[in-house]
Amino acid sequence: MRQLRHVLVIFAAALVAQACTKKNEGNAPAVDEIRIGQFGSMTGGEATFGQSTDKGVRLAIDTKNAAGGIKGKKIKLITEDNQGKPEEAAAVVKKLISQDKVIAILGEVASTRSLAAAPIAQQFKIPMITPSSTNPKVTQVGDYVFRVCFIDPFQGPVMARFAHDNLKLKKVAVLKDLKSDYSLGLSDFFQKKFKELGGEIVSEQTFQTGDSDFKAQLTRIRSTNPEAIFIPAYYTEVGLIARQARELGLKAILLGGDGWDSPKLFEIGQKAVEGSYFSNHYASESPNKATQDFIKNFKAKFNEGPDGLSAAGYDAAMILLNAMERAPELTPAAIRDELAKTKDFDGATGKITINGERNADKDAFIVKVDGKTLKFITLLGP
Ligand code: PHE
Repeated sequence: MRQLRHVLVIFAAALVAQACTKKNEGNAPAVDEIRIGQFGSMTGGEATFGQSTDKGVRLAIDTKNAAGGIKGKKIKLITEDNQGKPEEAAAVVKKLISQDKVIAILGEVASTRSLAAAPIAQQFKIPMITPSSTNPKVTQVGDYVFRVCFIDPFQGPVMARFAHDNLKLKKVAVLKDLKSDYSLGLSDFFQKKFKELGGEIVSEQTFQTGDSDFKAQLTRIRSTNPEAIFIPAYYTEVGLIARQARELGLKAILLGGDGWDSPKLFEIGQKAVEGSYFSNHYASESPNKATQDFIKNFKAKFNEGPDGLSAAGYDAAMILLNAMERAPELTPAAIRDELAKTKDFDGATGKITINGERNADKDAFIVKVDGKTLKFITLLGP
């Protein structure tokens, strides 16, 4: 018994010693694992954004680990839920860096939350890669902040061109979210281009994230008789807006951006979203081999099809893992430098090259809500 106690004491001392060395390592990874942080909205009004992204990220990391990891080390993902709140996003990213000592961070989807966290990643010089935040300000925070998607100064004009050239629309109303950097930016970029093309914005109305009654705004929109309403917002509010618009007798075509992409859109919006169009990062019907391989592997792992967020999450994680593989050493600075060199990565969302502004130049998929699926309509470039 005494001997056993003796062994236990030695064992405990060894554990303490190990914990201390870990602390002294700063941001260096533990000997046998590479720690990557992820932050996202796993709960709240935008929960499918976080959950879908996480599935794509896990598929990428599990695939890489099954093939032996990176430089002989296994990758460990540490995920934090920010409940869809910008303050929480900042808090969990601080925790991932200072407590978990991650050497890179994946996240967020919503631009407002990426903007809340990016200054922290930049301050600590930990590379942060957002899979799908499209507001231009996000990567302007600094040289450690990257994205693997297009930006709204591209996406807005794409939808304006689609509305004007393809749908032949002349009079459009806009309903935007004052609490979302994404919504405000996308609204401006859309409107500017639509007017340039000769179209007219007949009404501009606003709401705030979390609102559930949009009747006053929609009644004002109805009085201007638009052919379409552009709603640069996220799926929960979009679904409710669509239903209330139809209840008020509005027959206008509904248009949106990537923020609509969620399996919950059909559930919340039901028949009211049918026939709407939005721009996106991904279409399941893409003939691209990398996209089809991704869909096959995703279905095998999760027993369901991916949405665009899963595809973007997969690409962000794969681009990070590839940069780690190429990096001469596993330090945040070396990983950052390799991320910046990403060229022609064949992703689930298409070919990705990181440009000088740390954004990706890519085409946008226009999709149409068709029952419970998204039908691919066209691919639009710059
Ligand atoms: N682009 C949106 C933003 O910047 C986030 C988003 C991307 C939402 C893709 C859904 C799908 O806030």
